[in-house]
Amino acid sequence: MAGPTDDALAILDGTILPAAEASIGVTDLGLIRGDGVFEVIAVKDGQPFAFEDHLRRMATSAENLRLELDLGAVERELRALIEAAGPTATASVRFMVTRGGRRIGIVEPVVAPDAKPPLKLVTVEYVPTRILDGIKSLSYGSNMLATRIAVERGGTEALLVTPHGRVLEAPTSAFFVSFDGETVVTPPLSDHILDSITRRRLLSVLGDRAREEVVTVESLGRAREAFLASTTRDVQAVVAIDDIDLGALPGPVTLAAGEAFAAHVADELGA
Ligand SMILES: Cc1ncc(COP(=O)(O)O)c(C=O)c1O
Repeated sequence: MAGPTDDALAILDGTILPAAEASIGVTDLGLIRGDGVFEVIAVKDGQPFAFEDHLRRMATSAENLRLELDLGAVERELRALIEAAGPTATASVRFMVTRGGRRIGIVEPVVAPDAKPPLKLVTVEYVPTRILDGIKSLSYGSNMLATRIAVERGGTEALLVTPHGRVLEAPTSAFFVSFDGETVVTPPLSDHILDSITRRRLLSVLGDRAREEVVTVESLGRAREAFLASTTRDVQAVVAIDDIDLGALPGPVTLAAGEAFAAHVADELGA
């Protein structure tokens, strides 16, 4: 998984510096307990996509986590970091706020779509922590472990499913599946998944070609296509789920969703 590198550009409490020089104290509960919030924002040609949505979600996360947050400082520092990344930067910007009160932003590289390994999902049992509903918190150990378990089992990414057989999402992405080759469904937020911004935008852009609906593990055997969606993936086709083969090439529904989303982003950024 691509991550920040030491030479990446960072911002720490308003000061821009190389990531290697940005450090916080070891007693920060953001580190000790994963107690804090974060966002990852896509930057395309120097422009952030869905900037306000991410700010709003961070504010909600902080409020729900009872974390003090200076939203004005977050916005200023994000804008400063994006500007420092340059007018042609296509990247992801991660921004974290810790319980210790530190604000940290890092510019992360984007993996080109053709350099991403094909998505072979492996179902991994997972029970969402209800108390973290509506919080994009720094506590991502279980999500990272789910991906590692999926890789150990021969896949490239996990598909989180409940012990009662409901499909939820991937560790850092929303899940969409098509059963009829024309429309897609995605699990509802009432299943305690993250309110993904990409998922929300796709539901709106696809109109009556997409809906929220409970997805069972048992129903996956009837899947014709599936894809993951997130800030860092946009729309990425799934080639297999456990022993269900969905074909190496993205199907027409996935292609149409990817194109509709790309057009929506370009339109919003005024390209
Ligand atoms: C658990 C989870 N689901 C879905 C997503 C996708 O959300 P977004 O579209 O806002 O990037 C993420 C992103 O980090 C996530 O962590």
